[in-house]
Amino acid sequence: MKATKDKVVLITGGSNGIGAATCEKFVSEGATVIIADRQEPENFVPSTQIHFHCLDVTSESQWLSLFQKIEASFTSLDVLVNAAGIVGDVLNGSLESTTLDEWHRVLAVNLDGTFLGCREAVKLMRKQGSGAIVNLSSVGAYYPTTQSVAYGASKGAVTQLTKSVALFASMGNIPIRCNSVHPGRIETKMLDDILTQKSARATQNNIQNIPTTADRTPMGAKGAPEDVASLIYYLASDEARYITGAEFVADGGWKLLR
Ligand SMILES: NC(=O)c1ccc[n+]([C@@H]2O[C@H](COP(=O)([O-])OP(=O)(O)OC[C@H]3O[C@@H](n4cnc5c(N)ncnc54)[C@H](O)[C@@H]3O)[C@@H](O)[C@H]2O)c1
Repeated sequence: MKATKDKVVLITGGSNGIGAATCEKFVSEGATVIIADRQEPENFVPSTQIHFHCLDVTSESQWLSLFQKIEASFTSLDVLVNAAGIVGDVLNGSLESTTLDEWHRVLAVNLDGTFLGCREAVKLMRKQGSGAIVNLSSVGAYYPTTQSVAYGASKGAVTQLTKSVALFASMGNIPIRCNSVHPGRIETKMLDDILTQKSARATQNNIQNIPTTADRTPMGAKGAPEDVASLIYYLASDEARYITGAEFVADGGWKLLR
């Protein structure tokens, strides 16, 4: 068992939203955190405890350089959180209107990015003999969608990939755990983007944007990024040492109405 203050944690998409809240949680518990994002967090102040590395998660070569740097500068990596993600074009996100370029764009970030992160982390964690990976999926992985076909498919695939990583490690006697987290409606830039696009579509089609059951959440309209960060923190901790290949929903009961 290693104390959190002795852990090195890599968080993709750590500059905003759920990734940023997760970063704050780990920093407050004393961990060393590396934020890997394509954009630096606003007002970022680097320190010995918090580092920024510019990464486009779709680039294999950038992942390889990042891991070389981690091995050289930090010697170990205890936790990887794959939080980088995009929702894509919701306005034109139906089956018929999704272009192949848009499909590839969304899958490249959400799925290729998660795959590359898991693959490289497993190689390093295997050498050191421990590690935990948390992948951000979505409640969207559980339901068909008429509006964001690429996003839904990417999150379904992340859920499945997570289980393959978990099984690969467990069956190979590699002490690495991998779980997926499935947020509902969480107040971040991504959710703002979705709601803006939905209302633009309603205006475009000259219809009223009336909330449906799918817009309702029993525990309140939206969760905070911190509500997901605390779950990620738990899954990455040694307290969760017997948990792998599992799915964890943080949605304020949204799924209960489906
Ligand atoms: N907010 C929600 O309601 C919600 C619901 C379900 C799932 N999720 C998932 O949670 C994760 C975090 O979402 P969020 O709401 O915090 O989003 P966000 O938009 O607030 O933050 C996403 C971060 O990912 C980074 N990013 C995007 N593309 C990247 C790339 N190619 N390389 C590196 N970084 C990249 C962005 O710069 C940003 O910092 C995502 O995987 C998302 O799909 C969010």
